[in-house]
Amino acid sequence: MNYSDEELYSLVNKAVKVFYDKVYEDPWMKDVFKVIKQEIIENQQTDFMVAALGGPKRYCGRSPKDAHLHIFVDDEMWDRREKVLEQSLRETLTDEILITKWLRIDEAFRHAIVRNNPSECTKRYASDEIINVPNPFKKVA
Ligand code: HEM
Repeated sequence: MNYSDEELYSLVNKAVKVFYDKVYEDPWMKDVFKVIKQEIIENQQTDFMVAALGGPKRYCGRSPKDAHLHIFVDDEMWDRREKVLEQSLRETLTDEILITKWLRIDEAFRHAIVRNNPSECTKRYASDEIINVPNPFKKVA
């Protein structure tokens, strides 16, 4: 893994775009992402991952913990996102070291974002809505 800043940015951006194309089509996650334009989250996520992977520190948004306070993400949603992420990375990247590093960084945030109960979510601002999208695949007894 030895890329120029431009190469790293372009690889990450390519993979991030493929990832969010899938997320914004996903029957469950698409409703979570209604609050943000795809292009904006793609730019934020690219800057975040480039910095986390050792590239230029352009990201100046919230930490993942603070960015998701108002979103109910359970382990099922997390695992679904993780599968889509891995699939997207494998479709766009050939560097196994980069893929492994990316997935390891991502997984490190599970405990900061995943909650057991929607009541654990908090609003970042008074005007925030708590985002709690039920799993459409869950069988009701
Ligand atoms: C299932 C897991 C996740 C879901 C459903 C999710 C969803 C979202 C949503 C809906 C937003 C926009 C929030 C808003 O503007 O109201 C957001 C922001 C963001 N997410 Fe996630 N996210 C997840 C995991 C992650 C992970 C693992 C990372 C980083 C490794 C991450 C990085 C970010 C960043 C950088 C922002 C922008 C924050 C800001 O501009 O303040 N997300 N996420």
